[in-house]
Amino acid sequence: MELLDKNGLTEEEYLKTYRPGDWPRPSVTADIAVFREASTGCELLLIRRGGHPFLGKWALPGGFSEPGETVDETAARELQEETSLTGLHLVPVGFFSTPGRDVRAWTMSEGFAAMLPEGEAEPKAGDDARETGWFTLDSRWDSGVLSLIFDGPERFEAKLFRDGAYAFSIADTGGLAFDHAHIIARAMEKLGLLQPEPTDYVTLNAQLASLVEGVPHPLANLSNAAALLWETLGGINWAGFYLMEDGRLVLGPFQGKPACIEIPLHKGVCGAAARANTTQLVPDVHAFPGHIACDSASRSEIVIPLRRNGKVFGVLDIDSPLLHRFSEADRAGLEAFARILEKAVADI
Ligand code: SME
Repeated sequence: MELLDKNGLTEEEYLKTYRPGDWPRPSVTADIAVFREASTGCELLLIRRGGHPFLGKWALPGGFSEPGETVDETAARELQEETSLTGLHLVPVGFFSTPGRDVRAWTMSEGFAAMLPEGEAEPKAGDDARETGWFTLDSRWDSGVLSLIFDGPERFEAKLFRDGAYAFSIADTGGLAFDHAHIIARAMEKLGLLQPEPTDYVTLNAQLASLVEGVPHPLANLSNAAALLWETLGGINWAGFYLMEDGRLVLGPFQGKPACIEIPLHKGVCGAAARANTTQLVPDVHAFPGHIACDSASRSEIVIPLRRNGKVFGVLDIDSPLLHRFSEADRAGLEAFARILEKAVADI
C-alpha cells in the first residue's frame, strides 16, 4: 500500500501540488582561485571586472550556474569564458553564503581552487573580464589580523579576522570585489598556502614539560615531542630529530614523510646547526648552499641543536612548504622547547 502523509496525499499527489516558489530561492554561482607556483611564493590569477557591480575592480573569475549544470561544470565553464583556461583540476574550498555578500541579490557561491606549476598558463580575458593579471600573494598574521598582500598590475592588501574554525570575516576588502578576499583566504588555507597563526609557545612548552615529566625513556620523549610539534604547528611538512652517531647525524623519531637517514656534518641545514652549535633559521632553503631536499615541497626550515654539557648530541629539524614560515618568535619558542627536551633525554 502506498504511504499517505498527514494530509492524506500519496507522494505523486504531493509532488503535483508542490509549489517551489513557496520557499525563497538564492542564485548559485562559482568562483575560482587559480594559483601558480613561483620562486617568490605563489601567484593568483585575477580578472578586472568589465561590468557592474565592482566595475573595474579585481575579482576571482566566476559566474552564475545555469539550469542543467553542476556547480563544478559552472566553475569550469566560467573559467574558460573569462580566462580561456581549460582542463584544470578544480578543488572545492567551501560554500559562501553570508547574507549580503552580493550587492545584487541573494547569491550563494561555491569556491574552487587550482594549482598550476611555475610559469604555466597564459590566460586571455573574455566575456565579463576586461583584463587578467597574475598577482604574487603573501600572507601575514599580526595581532590576530590576517593580511593578504597582492602585488601585480596593482598592489593592494586585504585584511581578515578568523571567524570560527574554517571561516574568516573581512575587515578590509583591499578593493577586491564581493567577498573574494574571504574565498581567497579559504582557498589558500585549503591548498596549504596560508601562513599559520603564530604558535602559543607558553602553552606548547608547558604541554611538552608535562608529557616528558618523570619519563625515563629518551626515545619515547623524542617521539612524543615530534608528535606534539606535528599536531600543534601549522604550515609544516616535517618535524623530528637527527641524533649524533660516529660523527654524523642519523635519523631519529619524526613525523612527516620518510626522510634522509644520514647527514654528514658538512652538509645541509642540519649539518650546519650541529657543526656551528647554533640555530639555523632558513627563510628560503633554495638560497641555502648545501640544503638537503628530503621533500621537494620544503621551502623554509629551522634547525635547533640539542646539547648535553654544551656539546651537540642531536638536532630538532622542522620543515615547511611555505617561504618565510619561521619567525624570531618561533626561534625563541623552539629553543625553549629544545631546552626542556635536553633535560628529558639526558642519557641518550
Ligand atoms: N633539509 C635538511 C635535511 C633533513 S630533512 O629536511 C628532514 C637539511 O638540509 O639538513
